[in-house]
Amino acid sequence: MYDNLNSSEQVGMPKHIAIIMDGNGRWATNQNKLRTVGHKAGVEALRSTIEVCATYRVEVLTVFAFSSENWSRPATEVNVLMDLFMLTLKRQAKRLHKNNIRLKIIGDKTKFSLSLQKKIKEVEGLTADNTGLLLVIAANYGGQWDIEQASLRMMEDASTKQVLLSDLNIKDYLSTSGMPDPDLFIRTGGEQRISNFLLWQIAYSELYFTSTLWPDFNKAELDLALKHFSSRQRRFGKTGEQINESAS
Ligand code: IPE
Ligand code: IPE
Ligand code: MG
Repeated sequence: MYDNLNSSEQVGMPKHIAIIMDGNGRWATNQNKLRTVGHKAGVEALRSTIEVCATYRVEVLTVFAFSSENWSRPATEVNVLMDLFMLTLKRQAKRLHKNNIRLKIIGDKTKFSLSLQKKIKEVEGLTADNTGLLLVIAANYGGQWDIEQASLRMMEDASTKQVLLSDLNIKDYLSTSGMPDPDLFIRTGGEQRISNFLLWQIAYSELYFTSTLWPDFNKAELDLALKHFSSRQRRFGKTGEQINESAS
């Protein structure tokens, strides 16, 4: 499978990469094709990105597939996206499993059709014990929703388990609980905004924006983002001198 090439232990390699896969519609429109053709091409770009991340031994790859605001798109486009989600899960489940990839869907899944919810559970269950890349797909996800649902569940726990709210940590209730925060955040498609993706979790992520449209994203583009990432000095509030001292 995807063996031994690189490792997230390696200096400068992010443990967690988060990507806003944007630009599918424009990619298709530029070629006088339907926007939905762009979404299909986007699935291919995702497939190859997963493969490269697995090869590089990245621990977590989180991708934004459908935002809580994307329901506002024309119904025909939303329907195609839902169908594509279902089809991709059906087609890729075995392959993900064979490659030791664990799949987790984050977002408000209650809005999806029952058959899609069932399929999600099935593929998550199939891959639950895998130890390779953790692939997180954010679908009907919103960063504000995540903070809200985490706060509500935390308050509920405090009252039902009779523990002090101040002893609980919101990090444990976010849908990314147990995962390291993203080290590298990538947005394709040229916009420089967060669009309600991970909010809490990207507090210290290195941000990388590229005008490349998502269906054109490939290994060379990822390598470029990784090169930028490795040249950044992550200070986490300290001074540059402190960081240099602890590295020497
Ligand atoms: C991202 O591509 C995919 C989804 C939001 C589902 P877009 O569909 O937003 O593509 P553009 O931004 O219109 O080009
Ligand atoms: C963000 O892209 C959501 C996904 C990529 C799934 P959008 O295309 O929806 O973002 P805006 O509307 O341009 O901010
Ligand atoms: Mg877009």
